[in-house]
Amino acid sequence: MTLHVSPKFVETDIERIAGSTGRIVVFLGEGGKMGTAARHVDVLTGGLLERVAKSDAFAKLGAGEGIDLAFPTGLMADRLQVLRLDSKDDADAARKAGAAIGQAISAEDALVLADGVGRAAEVAFGISLRAYRFEARKSVSSDKFGAVTLMVNGCEAVAAEAAPLAALAEGVCFTRDLVNEPANILTTTEFADRLLAMRDLGLEVEVLEEAQLAELGMGALLGVGLGSPTPTKIVVMQWNGGGEEPPFALIGKGVVFDTGGISIKPAGGMEDMTMDMGGAGTVAGVMRALALRKAKANVVALVGLVENMPDGLAQRPGDVVKSMKGDTIEVINTDAEGRLVLADVMWYAQERFKPVGMVDLATLTGAIIVALGHENAGVFSNDDSLCEAFLAAARTEGEGAWRLPMGDAYDARLKSRVADMRNVGTGRDGGSIVAAQFLKRFVKSDTPWIHLDIAGTASLKGSSAFAPAGATGWGVLALNRLIRDRFEG
Ligand code: BES
Ligand code: MN
Ligand code: ZN
Repeated sequence: MTLHVSPKFVETDIERIAGSTGRIVVFLGEGGKMGTAARHVDVLTGGLLERVAKSDAFAKLGAGEGIDLAFPTGLMADRLQVLRLDSKDDADAARKAGAAIGQAISAEDALVLADGVGRAAEVAFGISLRAYRFEARKSVSSDKFGAVTLMVNGCEAVAAEAAPLAALAEGVCFTRDLVNEPANILTTTEFADRLLAMRDLGLEVEVLEEAQLAELGMGALLGVGLGSPTPTKIVVMQWNGGGEEPPFALIGKGVVFDTGGISIKPAGGMEDMTMDMGGAGTVAGVMRALALRKAKANVVALVGLVENMPDGLAQRPGDVVKSMKGDTIEVINTDAEGRLVLADVMWYAQERFKPVGMVDLATLTGAIIVALGHENAGVFSNDDSLCEAFLAAARTEGEGAWRLPMGDAYDARLKSRVADMRNVGTGRDGGSIVAAQFLKRFVKSDTPWIHLDIAGTASLKGSSAFAPAGATGWGVLALNRLIRDRFEG
């Protein structure tokens, strides 16, 4: 299966260090400052850490960075990882140090001597985020991660501090598992089943099937799935941890595979479209984290699950569909399907839940990658206050997010000769903004709303600071923080 790590905390006991096998991790603070356990390692190794602390190599390290030493004399361990981290360093640096450990750990056990570290819980979080491997589809899986133990002072208090972060890491890994799955495994039915299984965590989960969606008049969403045998669904997940107030809403694009439909995509790289359910995957990961940490907030998540395939029954370019809102849409390009999905899911969410705010996440446009690369997701909003709060949350969590403009001139590009609007603008320029304008037509004017275009950030070809190559889980941390800061304060 997929491999995750859940670090354990134990009370500092320097007698355990010398005989510990596998990997030992120590921290050196400013000027080579050591905690009690690190000082013990220094004694056992005949002053090895003192030597490292005085070296140029150490001087060049940033906070949270480190060096790996092999077969240190005086220890049973085969590896000694020395990380630069001062007790005064912030949570970011501690998380980064954790990621360095998470990247290095293997099948061997690891003992992390974190007694001199102020933010051991964040170190553990960094380990959990980085030590992830998706191996569910390998017939022979590589070695499991060994046990990871952090030695700390006051381990119960640290463990209590780490618990909500462990919930968050589990949410992130849940998102990654969903996004990494191929489309023949993660059909809409399988996706819905995995979300239904979260009932065990106390989430209310319901599935709307095609007949109900048709009854609700969701012609935009249903049109996208006409070419696929896997049934179109909406899954509604509710976490009611707050009082009686209306919920905050999260909406996810869950296109389990996007061929482009009749406006078919070129073959090269089409396999990447297994991640076109990244918005739905992210929303699901947030809900998992909220349930696991028993968040004191009311949040509802709705995902539109559908597959975009070419077929004799598939919708055609030029077809006109009618949305639940009642507006008609000329489908100029069947590959601009994400907005058709979101239009109906967002409208339904607002009609049913009257949310205090709404965030949609979608791998919506290739154009956002042209604009922002893979470093930042595109942010669009009709509400400066909510938008600023989200951007601040993303900044704190180190998740890149950049706001782009909206405006009537972009909206005008959606004018259709035969229907109320077309699903793509005239011309390709500003494609991500025009897509956001399309979505805005399905947002009520009194609903504070953010649209996140995560096409560039949901999955990466290479590894990043806190994730190996593949699905990143981008957005789970920022949304969790937004909910925490805005509704649980
Ligand atoms: N799922 C794609 C967008 C995408 C592209 C996600 C690259 C991840 C990586 C979306 O459905 C799409 O095909 N968008 C079109 C819109 C166009 C037809 C207006 C695009 O970006 O080309
Ligand atoms: Mn598409
Ligand atoms: Zn798509």
